[in-house]
Amino acid sequence: MAKPASHNLLHHHHSKSNWSKLVIILACAALLGAALAFNVFWASSYSLSSTYISVASNWALQKSGMIVVPSVRTNKPEAAENEIAKSKEGRGSERFLSATFADIPAPELPWEQMPTAPVPRLDGYSIQIKNLFYVFSGYGTLDHVHSHVDVYNFTDNTWCERFDTPKDMANSHLGVATDGRYIYIVSGQYGPQCRGPIDRSYVLDTKTRKWQSLPPLPSPRYAPATQLWRGRLHVMGGSKENRHTPGVEHWSIAVKDGKALEKKWRTEVPIPRGGPHRACVLYNDRLFVIGGQEGDFQAKPGSPIFKCSRRHEVVYGDVYMLDGEKWTKLPPMPKPNSHIECSWVLVNNSIIITGGTTEKHPVTKRMMLVGEVFKFDLDSKTWSVIGRLPYRVKTTLAALWDGYLYFTSGQRDRGPDNPQPRKVIGEMWRAKLEL
Ligand SMILES: *[C@@H]1O[C@H](CO)[C@@H](O)[C@H](O)[C@H]1NC(C)=O
Ligand SMILES: *[C@@H]1O[C@H](CO)[C@@H](O)[C@H](O)[C@H]1NC(C)=O
Repeated sequence: MAKPASHNLLHHHHSKSNWSKLVIILACAALLGAALAFNVFWASSYSLSSTYISVASNWALQKSGMIVVPSVRTNKPEAAENEIAKSKEGRGSERFLSATFADIPAPELPWEQMPTAPVPRLDGYSIQIKNLFYVFSGYGTLDHVHSHVDVYNFTDNTWCERFDTPKDMANSHLGVATDGRYIYIVSGQYGPQCRGPIDRSYVLDTKTRKWQSLPPLPSPRYAPATQLWRGRLHVMGGSKENRHTPGVEHWSIAVKDGKALEKKWRTEVPIPRGGPHRACVLYNDRLFVIGGQEGDFQAKPGSPIFKCSRRHEVVYGDVYMLDGEKWTKLPPMPKPNSHIECSWVLVNNSIIITGGTTEKHPVTKRMMLVGEVFKFDLDSKTWSVIGRLPYRVKTTLAALWDGYLYFTSGQRDRGPDNPQPRKVIGEMWRAKLEL
């Protein structure tokens, strides 16, 4: 995960400068010797501006100064190639999988880079209300979590506002939902590294920017699936207090105009499979819960800073639909996908999902990020891959405005040929969608 250093400074600069300045900076950076920048910065820090990395690695912005990049990751057949090499002498028959074997061929999307968020975020959360995009908290680095909201205005494409979250509110792995004015924020992880979740829940009035508290969840939950449905705030799945054990419990509470109408959460029909990091979408009076995982990083026993240590995880692409009282299993995603809580938009009877993270590499056991843009047609209940992001990235925050699909933030890959997670980003991109 990223270290602090000069990162914030660079992003701060970008957010303040106008677009043409950024173009000049990009062009200059390329002209002044990408290779040098690469060599100097790559080894010393994970935290330089990703613009530099992109230019330096001759990938995301391969044509210096160009803003519109026609799908950065080209759709070469060999990208999906399965076996790339045989082992050295003596083990000649043993085969290895290419690091990128899980990438699915995808059409190109005309990505265009937009103003970078004021801070980079991993495991941030977002809610779009008309032309405003509220982006909540998240990790800046593993040792630093944000406790503020950044607001993006789609009308003039600026990051226009910043305000604080309540001191006691969780900083990541939240459950979020909105009714179009109030934003409900349930539970989540409080503090950096791998601390556990809390039960405290809040509601933000986006008209007044005032926060109120909600009755606490019956038990803390980490990254639970959350949605408003039939006048009730529903919270289900997620991980339990230890961050790792999947919960299947499902609770709801009646809410109206930012207030809970009941003192306690009600028990609802449990979700067939538990776990955190899933998309939860309401469509046509049905609740869809998509993807996710069982297990997650956990605090090292006895560590005073709750240092993260990797545990066994199973990522899945399951889709469950709640229709009144009964959960139905629907066709799964084209591949297992997790860390997609806010990576979706609903458009023309389809759910679009941007990026994520999939099962670990079967041979190297490395984590692998996802670069596809998926579409789930809610009428035919079928999945397709409709594009590729500028890079693989997880915990993207997605929005839709004026026919454009937007995404910002998350943790991106190490390059076109290396899907492992690396840099925490605040970049914002958009592409015109035509379904
Ligand atoms: C968003 O931008 C538009 C165009 O500049 C402006 O009219 C509007 O007031 C802005 N909204 C907010 C909430 O800042
Ligand atoms: C959604 O449907 C409307 C009406 O048919 C159309 O104008 C619009 O382009 C569609 N949006 C996308 C993203 O395809």
